[in-house]
Amino acid sequence: MRRKSKVIQYGKTAMVAGASEGIGAAFAFALAKEGMDLILIARRQEKLSEVAEKIENQFGVKTICIQCDLADANALEIIENSITETEVDFMVYNAAVSPIGPFTNLTQENLDLTTGVNIQTPLRLIHHFGGKMVARGKGAVVVVSSLAGFQGSGFISLYGATKAFGRILAEGLWYEWRDRGVDVIACCAGATATPNYINSNPAKSSLFAPRVQSPEEVANECLRKLGKVPSFISGRGNRIASFLMHRILPRRFAVMIMGENTRKIYQM
Ligand SMILES: NC(=O)c1ccc[n+]([C@@H]2O[C@H](COP(=O)([O-])OP(=O)(O)OC[C@H]3O[C@@H](n4cnc5c(N)ncnc54)[C@H](OP(=O)(O)O)[C@@H]3O)[C@@H](O)[C@H]2O)c1
Repeated sequence: MRRKSKVIQYGKTAMVAGASEGIGAAFAFALAKEGMDLILIARRQEKLSEVAEKIENQFGVKTICIQCDLADANALEIIENSITETEVDFMVYNAAVSPIGPFTNLTQENLDLTTGVNIQTPLRLIHHFGGKMVARGKGAVVVVSSLAGFQGSGFISLYGATKAFGRILAEGLWYEWRDRGVDVIACCAGATATPNYINSNPAKSSLFAPRVQSPEEVANECLRKLGKVPSFISGRGNRIASFLMHRILPRRFAVMIMGENTRKIYQM
């Protein structure tokens, strides 16, 4: 007998923002496997359609693809207009911009793009769709965050700060909404072999660096943890590294290690 799906209790339709590859696509496959229909969002229509076709063929669920730049201040309206009567029961906000390099090299455009995709749009989508879930008394929200958001992270300072924002927001909402039928979780990933990560051409920071995870490992662990904790760090190696950095070492060292690692990884 097929086991009862855990995520289908939230409703029929999941929306994944940033779904054309990597962790977002892995969430889409994992949710479809549990029987959910999908709303898939990204900028590249062709990539989205490929993911949607594979999912429909493999799991027989329905998909809607929305081509949308999540940096657009009207992203919420674009998405709302594309789904009209479909309710969003489960939402994953995965897309992110991560400019790498000295803070002074960032342009105004970099600043606007990063805060748009990583803060303003998730904030508006969570407020809108999460608010509707609360009104209906069921639903789930996943915010994909990062280990870079646990301390100041030199050379990715802005990215780290936006990831801290996502985690702190999700944790607060976990508490506010837990008795209203809506589960919220911040999924704090470490290095993950997404096309974005691989294309950034990272070098190994040290012999003791935690193992790079697959996008599927991150998504599946998150779905197992949803409803149990407000946030979690994906992967045992990342959890051990985080324990040493944040519980054992003085904060100053944690910030220095993070900055040094980023400098080495991106050879600055
Ligand atoms: N990879 C890692 O090592 C790592 C580590 C820690 C945390 N994370 C977190 O995991 C999440 C995803 O990571 P990732 O970027 O490495 O890989 P990813 O899962 O491949 O995410 C990129 C996805 O977001 C979409 N996207 C990016 N910018 C967008 C925009 N402006 N509008 C619409 N869609 C957009 C991309 O599609 P299009 O290009 O088609 O738009 C793609 O589908 C991020 O939140 C990141 O902070 C990743």
